Amino acid sequence: MAVKLACVVLMCMFAGALAQTISCGQVMANLLPCVSLVTGGAPTAACCRALNSTVAQASTTAGRQQLCSCLKAAFGGLNLNLADLKAKVAAPPCGVEIPFDLTTKTNCSLVQ
Ligand SMILES: *[C@@H]1O[C@H](CO)[C@@H](O)[C@H](O)[C@H]1NC(C)=O
Ligand SMILES: *[C@@H]1O[C@H](CO)[C@@H](O)[C@H](O)[C@H]1NC(C)=O
Repeated sequence: MAVKLACVVLMCMFAGALAQTISCGQVMANLLPCVSLVTGGAPTAACCRALNSTVAQASTTAGRQQLCSCLKAAFGGLNLNLADLKAKVAAPPCGVEIPFDLTTKTNCSLVQ
């Protein structure tokens, strides 16, 4: 299972290497410290740092749209409440602002 996941992530990274925006594979790899969020836990300091730098890399409209789709795919697929997740990481001590509205209904192609 872990091997399979690693393969998928690597394939994503390879496919994304040609794109200008951060690939979903990179986003997933970056956010591995955030696995506690998936089980409903609080974000760890490592997760907050990882998320902060991932958000910082999505500095263009295209980058934010891409990040939006990746987060929706990664966390939305797990039946997590995305708005909750966004609020959780925005709260202290994490304080990472995800720079767009994030719900399962968010249309990522409208993200600015
Ligand atoms: C996010 O990163 C920026 C730039 O490195 C830094 O100035 C800021 O304090 C960080 N914010 C959080 C919440 O870690
Ligand atoms: C998202 O917005 C784009 C641009 O307005 C539109 O073409 C597309 O149909 C919308 N997608 C959904 C799922 O609403």
